[in-house]
Amino acid sequence: MSEADCPAAPVFDDAFRDRLDALFQWRRDVRHFRRDPVPEPVLDHMLSVTCSTPSVGLSQPWRFMRVDAQTRRLAVRNEFMQRNAEALAAQTVSDSTAYARLKLAGLDDAPHHIAVFCDPDPAQGRGLGRMTMPETVQWSAVMAIHSFWLAAQAHNVGLGWVSILDPSHMASLLDADPHWRFMAYLCVGYPEEENRIPELERRGWEQRAPARHHWLRR
Ligand SMILES: Cc1cc2nc3c(=O)[nH]c(=O)nc-3n(C[C@H](O)[C@H](O)[C@H](O)COP(=O)(O)O)c2cc1C
Repeated sequence: MSEADCPAAPVFDDAFRDRLDALFQWRRDVRHFRRDPVPEPVLDHMLSVTCSTPSVGLSQPWRFMRVDAQTRRLAVRNEFMQRNAEALAAQTVSDSTAYARLKLAGLDDAPHHIAVFCDPDPAQGRGLGRMTMPETVQWSAVMAIHSFWLAAQAHNVGLGWVSILDPSHMASLLDADPHWRFMAYLCVGYPEEENRIPELERRGWEQRAPARHHWLRR
């Protein structure tokens, strides 16, 4: 867009801020999905909004890969089951069976599966800003995932982030560019129910700390 085509900047008011607060508060990591698909124009809009995420040097290093083939989805499910079994064996969790089932429900029911990769050395951005901190490329990709998550919620679409997976195995079973780094596996679809409280909090696993605990001063 040229500067001449640029519309006037909007003024964000209290009513907008209230709605934005609600978006942040109601965004959830979703594990239980309805099976009806999200319309493609909605998915396209979510990605289009995501592409305005800040990125180091304007490199836009995120790569969103739709995983549609049933054979690949099954391979991801098997990968998750194996890694999750290892994770559960490594710790004592009283409700481990129910916990494991939670995540499988997401992988089995979500109509859309999206793997997110990061190109660690994209031509775009021409290396700007990443000489001393090359990891900023990956941070940019993580920020894009957060944008996608919020954009989904704004369309009343749920997203569940699955990370109990081996990154290099995921890259090979999804035939990704060998240089890319696997960042996330996202289950996407309409949630069976909306909830204001994170699932892990409802299950007594962990609680959010109050915001005041997150200010440090020196
Ligand atoms: C980087 C990252 C990785 C995550 N990986 C998993 C995962 O493998 N399994 C899972 O159940 N939740 C995963 N989550 C979701 C968190 O458990 C969830 O965000 C947290 O419990 C807070 O709940 P909320 O997102 O509903 O507010 C992940 C979240 C992030 C940001």
